[in-house]
Amino acid sequence: MTNEQPRVLLVGAGAVGQVFAHYLRSAGCAVTFLVKEKHAAQARAGFTLYELGVRQRTPAPTPLSGFGVLVSEREVQKERWDQVWLCVSSTALRSGEGLKKLAASTGDATWVMLQPALDDREWLLQWIPAERLVTGMIPFLAFHAPLTPEDALKGPGTAFWMPPLSRGLFSGPSERLWPLLRTLRAGGFPVKEDADVTRAASIPSAMLCAAVLGLEAVGWSFERLLRPESLERTLGAAREAARIAEWATGASPASLLPLLRPVLIKASLALATRVAPVDLETFLRVHFTKVGEQTRLMLRTYLAMGQSAGLDTPHLQALAPPDLAAKK
Ligand SMILES: NC(=O)c1ccc[n+]([C@@H]2O[C@H](COP(=O)([O-])OP(=O)(O)OC[C@H]3O[C@@H](n4cnc5c(N)ncnc54)[C@H](OP(=O)(O)O)[C@@H]3O)[C@@H](O)[C@H]2O)c1
Repeated sequence: MTNEQPRVLLVGAGAVGQVFAHYLRSAGCAVTFLVKEKHAAQARAGFTLYELGVRQRTPAPTPLSGFGVLVSEREVQKERWDQVWLCVSSTALRSGEGLKKLAASTGDATWVMLQPALDDREWLLQWIPAERLVTGMIPFLAFHAPLTPEDALKGPGTAFWMPPLSRGLFSGPSERLWPLLRTLRAGGFPVKEDADVTRAASIPSAMLCAAVLGLEAVGWSFERLLRPESLERTLGAAREAARIAEWATGASPASLLPLLRPVLIKASLALATRVAPVDLETFLRVHFTKVGEQTRLMLRTYLAMGQSAGLDTPHLQALAPPDLAAKK
């Protein structure tokens, strides 16, 4: 872990993988992506990033190149790795045997997980020992541009926005965590150490998941979400999900639950839509349609944990799609 140029393997070269690759390259890391075969040619051609700012909706392109591209665990096994970053969804983590094989192919590397489902860490601990696992919470929005044909940012490329004052939270065993934080800081990525990111992220993630389900149920329209009936249902689901996260991780929702009031939600949404350098409604629709399976996986987890905890979940159940209804 004392080598000067950390060798980093990023699993997944989507929006999140590209943004972390940009910062890790800036920090002087040797970066390689592990991608599906169908994405290899595009990755080998290099990527283009656009860093959005509050007043910067059409920034200049930043090329992302100078990285390796691998397509199989067999290729991964031939090299030595200091870090492995999981830049795929919670659903992708559970797909096939890939993760298990990768864990067996990457020696003593530090693994970095970024996924939002309540039981992702437990899932990973089947193959990665806790002594080598760092957990992170993503502080930025990233998407493939343009979001729509009318988007001012024409792309093509990956746009990202680091909201002012936001910090990526990371936790893990100090001998693994600190070199990683040093690297990210050297690359200009805003980070903060946290005692337990799974715990810290659990209540915000639960509330966000409920909000996404509520928004999806009204066809991704803020105007319809803010109507009294759908807002009450969504806020009810957010409270239920937060209580389940509290039961699962011990995190306290006390500071966030009072914010779940219609007047505050309306004001926050109005502010967020004014400040964000992206059409938030469109971003949420496109992003959470892309990771829709992950949202359903998270909902399934909340419903199952709610049942184990003896907590009522009428609002979450009301937002569950029919294919989950049978399993409630
Ligand atoms: N984007 C954001 O703003 C944001 C913010 C916070 C958190 N997150 C979270 O970050 C995670 C990734 O999001 P994202 O926006 O980067 O998604 P994305 O753009 O879809 O990127 C994920 C990439 O990983 C690929 N992939 C899936 N399984 C793989 C495997 N086994 N090996 C190699 N590559 C694989 C996917 O390919 P296919 O598409 O072909 O499957 C896709 O190209 C999600 O959990 C998301 O919720 C994202």
